[in-house]
Amino acid sequence: MDKKELTEKMPAHVAVIMDGNGRWAERNGVSRLSGHNAGMLAMKEIIKRADVMGIKYLTVYAFSTENWKRSQEEVGGIFNLLVKYVGSELTELHENNVRVRILGDWRQVPKAAVTSIEKALDTTKNNDGLQFNIALNYGGRQEILHAVRTICSRVSSGEIGISDVTETMISDALYTGEENGKIPDPDLIIRTSGEERLSNFLLWQCAYSELAFTDSLWPDFTPDEFENIVHAFAGRKRRFGGR
Ligand code: IPE
Ligand code: IPE
Ligand code: MG
Repeated sequence: MDKKELTEKMPAHVAVIMDGNGRWAERNGVSRLSGHNAGMLAMKEIIKRADVMGIKYLTVYAFSTENWKRSQEEVGGIFNLLVKYVGSELTELHENNVRVRILGDWRQVPKAAVTSIEKALDTTKNNDGLQFNIALNYGGRQEILHAVRTICSRVSSGEIGISDVTETMISDALYTGEENGKIPDPDLIIRTSGEERLSNFLLWQCAYSELAFTDSLWPDFTPDEFENIVHAFAGRKRRFGGR
């Protein structure tokens, strides 16, 4: 494939399940939090490469609705890291015209994180470069439930009838819908660490996504490996149910 063809087939939206920080920490004899810190550094590099490659939307799964089951120490540490990351990177993200959005019930996360998220959203709100979405306190089922409730309330108020409900209406009521400027469904979902499952990530949106799995643990996942996976995707034929 030549360069032009590659650009034309470049996925518009790549989503990443950043998994394996804990195993990386164990393998390297450091604390789980050091693993999450190394994961943040890896994420920084992937954002930069996605931008250089001309990917329009990058979504990362940072914290699931199920991750609250972890120890208080680990959960608190993850949010502290997030605050630290936003604090140190926001200026550069903004200078690079990156727009930050959050998918999930993020107003329920610790207060310091909510404050730094609000700042990031506001600072980057007019940027039209890379659209960087962080799935935070995100759960696919919870997102669908939230959409169902929104639509039900429109039905019960009499605004629309049951048979007026469409797939588009459901898409629009998700976190990736109207509240975040209608993010297209992911073309490609990458999961690191060798696990081959979605763990409640983008359940409605993944209907026709290509899936790619790598054994690399997230902190070891390099921009070059990311680029190779995306280029391999560009060579795949997507059929969307047609023949
Ligand atoms: C992913 O790494 C980061 C989060 C889920 C927050 P893990 O912490 O799940 O790493 P493993 O799966 O234990 O190796
Ligand atoms: C999925 O990873 C969530 C994130 C990467 C944020 P988990 O490590 O939480 O998922 P499971 O427990 O392996 O399914
Ligand atoms: Mg994990």
